[in-house]
Parts: sequence; C-alpha cells; structure tokens
Amino acid sequence: MRLCSSSRTVDAYGVHSGVSRAAKVLQRVLGLPVTGIVGDGDIAATRKHFTADLIARVCDERLAFLKSLKTWPFIFCRSSFRKGSPGIQRRQGVTLGVVLSARYMRRDRRGAMRMNIRDAVASRFSCRAFLPTPVPQSIVREILELSARAPSGSNLQPWLVHALTGEPLMRLKKQLEPRYGELPRGDGPGYEVFPAKLHEPYRTRRFDVGLQLYESLGIAYEDRDARLRQYARNLVFFDAPVALFFVIERTLHPAQWADLGMFVQTVMLVARGYDLHTCAQQAWVPWSKTVEQFLELPPAQMLFCGMALGQANESAPENAWRSPREPIEKWATFSGF
Ligand SMILES: Cc1cc2nc3c(=O)[nH]c(=O)nc-3n(C[C@H](O)[C@H](O)[C@H](O)COP(=O)(O)O)c2cc1C
Repeated sequence: MRLCSSSRTVDAYGVHSGVSRAAKVLQRVLGLPVTGIVGDGDIAATRKHFTADLIARVCDERLAFLKSLKTWPFIFCRSSFRKGSPGIQRRQGVTLGVVLSARYMRRDRRGAMRMNIRDAVASRFSCRAFLPTPVPQSIVREILELSARAPSGSNLQPWLVHALTGEPLMRLKKQLEPRYGELPRGDGPGYEVFPAKLHEPYRTRRFDVGLQLYESLGIAYEDRDARLRQYARNLVFFDAPVALFFVIERTLHPAQWADLGMFVQTVMLVARGYDLHTCAQQAWVPWSKTVEQFLELPPAQMLFCGMALGQANESAPENAWRSPREPIEKWATFSGF
C-alpha cells in the first residue's frame, strides 16, 4: 500500500518495514511514548491531528529513512519489491487505518488519497460543528488553487478570497462578540440576501430547513432566545479553525455573482477531497461593514459570504441530519431522450 502526500509518494511503513515500525513512526511523529503498539491513547492523539498533515509527516519520516539506505537509488526500481501479503496489509490497516479513517477516501492506482466526485457531492453538507484541529496553510492554498479551475463567463475569475486562522480569526470573533447582543441584526447588510417577501415555495423550504436544524438540537421553534443563540454560532464559524471570506467587485453583474457561486461550491467539494467540511455563511452579510473594515477591503469591493472550514465534529447532533431536496420531477424536464 502506498501513501501519497502532495508530490511525495513513498511506500508506507506497514508493508515494507512491519507493523511495529509503522506504529513507532506514528508515535514519534505525534510526540508520544514510542512502544510500537497502537493503543487507545495513540488513536485519540491521532484524531486531534489534521489527517493529510499527519500522513505527510509519516511519509517524510519514511522518505528520510529510505534515503539513508545505500540502496536508495535502486529502491523503487526493483520488480521484486515486496507488495505485502493480505495478512500484512490487514495489520497495516490497523496501524495506518488509524490515520486514514476518512470514510469516503479511496486510493488511486498510484496510492494517492482521492475522493470520487460523486462521494464528494453526496458527503458534502453544511457542517455546523467543527473540531479545533488546525488546517495547514498549504492545504487551504491547495484547495483554493484547485478550486480556481472553476469556470467563469469569459474567464473573468471574479473571486477574491481572504483566509483567516489563529490570531486574526480570534481578533475578528472578539470584535463581534460584545456587539452581537446589542445589534442582533448586524451593522447594516452589504446586500439583501433574500427578497423582503419571500414567496412560495421558497418561504416554506427556508422555514423547514431552519426547523430541522433546531429540532436536531432539541430547540423548540417558540424558544426564540435559543434560536438566536444557535444563529450566533455562525459568528464564531461554528468553532471551525479556518474562516474564508468571499469577496467580489461591486460593479460586477449577476452573471459574475453566479461565477463566484460556482467557485464557492467548488471550494466546498474540493475540501471534501481532504476530508474537510464546510459551511457557506451568508450570516456574515449583516456584518459586512465590520468584515469589510477588518479585511481592509477597498471601497470597490464587497463581501459575498463567509465560510467555515475544518474537520467535522461527527458526534455533534447538528451534523447528524441532512437537509431535504425536492424530487427531480419538480424542477427538471427532459425531452428528446
Ligand atoms: C451562499 C450560502 C450561504 C449560506 N449561509 C448560511 C449561514 O449563514 N448559516 C448557515 O447555517 N447555513 C448557511 N448556508 C447553508 C444552507 O442553509 C444549506 O446549504 C441548505 O440548507 C442546504 O443544506 P446542505 O448544505 O446541508 O445540503 C448557506 C448556503 C449557501 C450556499
């Protein structure tokens, strides 16, 4: 079995060096006592780390070891290179499976971690509870760079993105925290997200999805305070370690907003390829003034939406339900097939 991390592809320890060595490397990389046996403590520590980053660090260790061998120049050329018996692979699965627990992740023929586009679409949902596990800048960059392959009319690429984590993100949250109570409707919306009188069938769809979210959290619709408290979770990005803000030039037209929408969706799907989750957030629009000032946007630019990005807290009830969709007959017609 092979693991690929960015441009580095190396063979995993488990097959070629044995399960015990694989476990030791994992423990060394995590700064844990090196026993060669994976225990509950190791599994818990592994879950706190960003998966792709951990794989990269294990691969780096392996690569450094292989490079130290006299046979390094020939090591990947030998046809007799051990493939690993099913038994070894199973045991290896126990050790490295700890790291690679991502349900939808698959390996391509070269062993690189991949996610099928159908699985990426099917497994995306608006995640409203995140683990604090950091996402390295290199991964955020890769997600954004790949997402910029999104199409746009006449290739205008009208998207602008600001990514925050750590101190700046904390600073923004701190800035908003005391003001949210005073100004529950924000500091003046940058644009009107929905028509003032949302008509059917949109009104009911909007109401229903809100109801389902609150139900998942045991919040009664009549409990306005609890609903507002949950809504305010938007303003801490549902505890996600990374915040993205999507920005567009004010002079651009609806067609370019559609381009930006395609870009935003591509970001959400590419993120799934890293076993990350997202929640697009127009809840930031009422706080456009604050956000635009914070990001030091020039007057010609405006906020479209925010987005939370990180690893999902899979045990959170608000992540355990899925929003409904209308049957295809309601919105598609087919002719000439
Ligand atoms: C542009 C955009 C803005 C959104 N803004 C918010 C938001 O501020 N807060 C929130 O909890 N969900 C937000 N959502 C998530 C939608 O509610 C969600 O996409 C919809 O209910 C369908 O559910 P799903 O994403 O889980 O499939 C937003 C989605 C989009 C596309």
